[in-house]
Amino acid sequence: MAVASTSLALHGGARTIPTPFPHYNPLGPEEVAAATAVIQSGVLSQYIGAWCPDFLGGPKVREFEQAVCDRFGVSHAITVNSWTSGLIAAIGALDIEPGDEIIVSPWTMCASATAILHWNAIPVFADIERETFCLDPASIEANITPHTRAILAPDIFGHPADMDAIMAIAERHGLQVISDTAQAPGSLYRGKPSGTLAHIGGYSLNYHKHIHTGEGGILVTNDARLAERMQLIRNHAEAVVQDKGVTDLRNMIGHNFRLGEIECAMGIEQLKKLDRAIASRQRAANRLAAGLAPLEGLRPPVVKPDCTHVYYFFPMILDEAVTGVPRARLHEALLAEGITGLGARYQNVHLLPMYQQKIGYGSKGFPWVPGIVHRDVDYRKGICPVAEELQDRSYMGLFMCMSDYTDAQIDLVIEAFHKVWQHRDALR
Ligand SMILES: Cc1ncc(COP(=O)(O)O)c(C=O)c1O
Repeated sequence: MAVASTSLALHGGARTIPTPFPHYNPLGPEEVAAATAVIQSGVLSQYIGAWCPDFLGGPKVREFEQAVCDRFGVSHAITVNSWTSGLIAAIGALDIEPGDEIIVSPWTMCASATAILHWNAIPVFADIERETFCLDPASIEANITPHTRAILAPDIFGHPADMDAIMAIAERHGLQVISDTAQAPGSLYRGKPSGTLAHIGGYSLNYHKHIHTGEGGILVTNDARLAERMQLIRNHAEAVVQDKGVTDLRNMIGHNFRLGEIECAMGIEQLKKLDRAIASRQRAANRLAAGLAPLEGLRPPVVKPDCTHVYYFFPMILDEAVTGVPRARLHEALLAEGITGLGARYQNVHLLPMYQQKIGYGSKGFPWVPGIVHRDVDYRKGICPVAEELQDRSYMGLFMCMSDYTDAQIDLVIEAFHKVWQHRDALR
């Protein structure tokens, strides 16, 4: 690629992208009309936290849930006020006892693991695959103990986890599986939508996801019992179970996880736009991958056979031995060229202070402290070598979801990378 001969912006040269790309707004007249109609109806929520027809919410809640069932081919969808709430409800719906272990990825948003702690269960971190950044089935298997009850598998960055392998492990060991598909709605694993292959799955609707309602989430399952339990946890279970006639009281602490009518009305419109949002990111990602392919020491995202990637992030891997320049210097130079949404690391959840100090509640650290539950658990650096190396050295990603890149914008991003690569001697 021909690149302007000017020196790096970091060293005073002209920026490749002189002005930031315009603000991205995926909401249009359809969402405005839908939200306006709800406001005009005067019914912003129709939930009652007692067993009656309105226990399951108002008309827009139900319409959105049915639309999600139709779109993803599942029998139950349950809207919640965030996907964090969704994960808490999902774990509560499983038959988890305090001190039980749930295997989770360290390479995810913190809520995937924190939701486990809400039920006094113990997150156990398994390592990830370098290709997809999703849980490595071999590491899951290696971390199974007599206390393991479930696997919580994120479909991270927009690529599905290896669900056949994960479900086979679960079946062998009698475990339940939750898919955290916050970042990958509409991605496909062997032709089936991510999130629908586990016992429970679901999607985030916060404002930086493929489709959004400001805040929100959707649980999906084909299991009627799990669906009922999640509906209960969403809406003050403890006050409802008696009248509803629920005799199975395990994990029945309830919350108010209800999503409002305005959000659901907007969600109905957003869902219609999901395929377009995915196509736009795939087009941009394919162009970016082709444009960056010639750069030595930079590996664009891998899409495994039988999977589709919906590119919440465009995750890359750097080989410092080939580039000859540390990641931090390349990152600095790329940012100076005007690229936004570029990240040089992604968190390893087990390395967060809460896990390193093992204090989740009060000062005693429950549920990790031996003697309070049943044993200690290892969160030391070194337990997830692949994820830790990626964070320390090799990972670099471009956030795709808050933009609707045009070809011309993608070409500028490509040009900025080429410029930095061509001048990388100056960064050594
Ligand atoms: C993988 C993952 N899990 C969980 C969450 C939490 O979702 P929410 O922000 O809707 O609570 C997010 C949000 O970014 C996420 O990316």
